Amino acid sequence: MTPMNLRLREWQEGDLALLHALLGDPEMTRFLGGSESPEQIAARHLRYVALAGTGTGHMLVILSGPSWVTVGSVGYWDKEWEGEGVYEMGWSVLPEYQGRGIGTRATELALDHARADGRHHSVHAFPSMDNAASNAICRKAGFRLLGAHDFEYPKGSWMRCNDWRFDLQPPNSPRPATG
Ligand SMILES: CC(C)(COP(=O)(O)OP(=O)(O)OC[C@H]1O[C@@H](n2cnc3c(N)ncnc32)[C@H](O)[C@@H]1OP(=O)(O)O)[C@@H](O)C(=O)NCCC(=O)NCCS
Repeated sequence: MTPMNLRLREWQEGDLALLHALLGDPEMTRFLGGSESPEQIAARHLRYVALAGTGTGHMLVILSGPSWVTVGSVGYWDKEWEGEGVYEMGWSVLPEYQGRGIGTRATELALDHARADGRHHSVHAFPSMDNAASNAICRKAGFRLLGAHDFEYPKGSWMRCNDWRFDLQPPNSPRPATG
């Protein structure tokens, strides 16, 4: 198979239209609690632009070569999970680019990015149990399925999600340095 020509870059001021395409669309957000309002998307965009500066995660734009068109997003951020500091990761690929392996490859690149970031031992993803494509990404990228949990998202609506874990370092390696 030809290696896929993808790269990731940090979220920028000019990426608001991408966020509207990803989160303002009912089909794209079918397993994410439904589409967000323009106001919610604008506020989220500002959080994404600021995220790298907070030292608590990275929201990344997926670019596809050779002309480096914008095809989606993948990101990770700090989460406290079962008494442990971990990264949570999430991904989205624009409809016209889905089904070509981009989501899986971009997730692999984001796992490398999180390993280099180096603050936590593991990455968790929590796709809805009904989200076949997203669960397939977890399996193909090498996450381990740990079980299922109910999450309230958005407020008032409950979703059953799988808990997938990817170990960035061997289990007994020293805890990554913080600060
Ligand atoms: C989930 C998503 C990112 C997948 O992106 P993608 O680029 O199509 O993913 P890939 O091409 O790498 O495909 C991954 C696997 O999902 C499968 N898949 C893709 N679309 C599918 C669908 N609609 N139903 C079932 N399986 C599907 C692929 O066949 C592939 O598995 P396979 O190689 O074993 O056949 C994309 O569907 C998306 O953006 N969905 C909306 C946002 C979302 O739900 N994000 C997840 C939040 S946890």
